[in-house]
Amino acid sequence: MPQAGLVNAERIAEVIEHYAHMEGAALPMLHGLQERFGHVPEAAVPMVAEALNRSRAEIHGVVTFYHDFREAPAGRHVVKVCRAEACQSMGGEAVAARLASQLGVGWGETSPDGRVTLEATYCLGLCACAPSAMVDGQLIGRLDSDAADAIVAEVAR
Ligand code: FES
Repeated sequence: MPQAGLVNAERIAEVIEHYAHMEGAALPMLHGLQERFGHVPEAAVPMVAEALNRSRAEIHGVVTFYHDFREAPAGRHVVKVCRAEACQSMGGEAVAARLASQLGVGWGETSPDGRVTLEATYCLGLCACAPSAMVDGQLIGRLDSDAADAIVAEVAR
């Protein structure tokens, strides 16, 4: 899991420079920034745009289009719940709603105490064991209300 690092222009520029000469550099560069800082810092967007000769709006659009990019640092625990078709057809939405309600966090949000980030994701590749989730990088299949309660207890620590 990426570790948040100190964000400053010099460090952002280092990452940008690393990918700048690559064909189709935008996505690798943004992933590199997220790997380095735990999110894509707002200050990086104009720097990436300039390095790739694209507009700020275009780069911001890429960051917001891909669910994997974060615009703010994540909480200590990251709970991703699959909300794609196979998981929905297996009752995933009810468990997802239960999780969101018990964690008291909206989708794409981090709790004010920085304890947990709740994210929707669209297929974790575990459709055969739907509904699925991922907690701190660990896949969980056949997510039911008991498993949801266990997740809530785990991230309470
Ligand atoms: S649809 Fe949920 S894991 Fe594939």
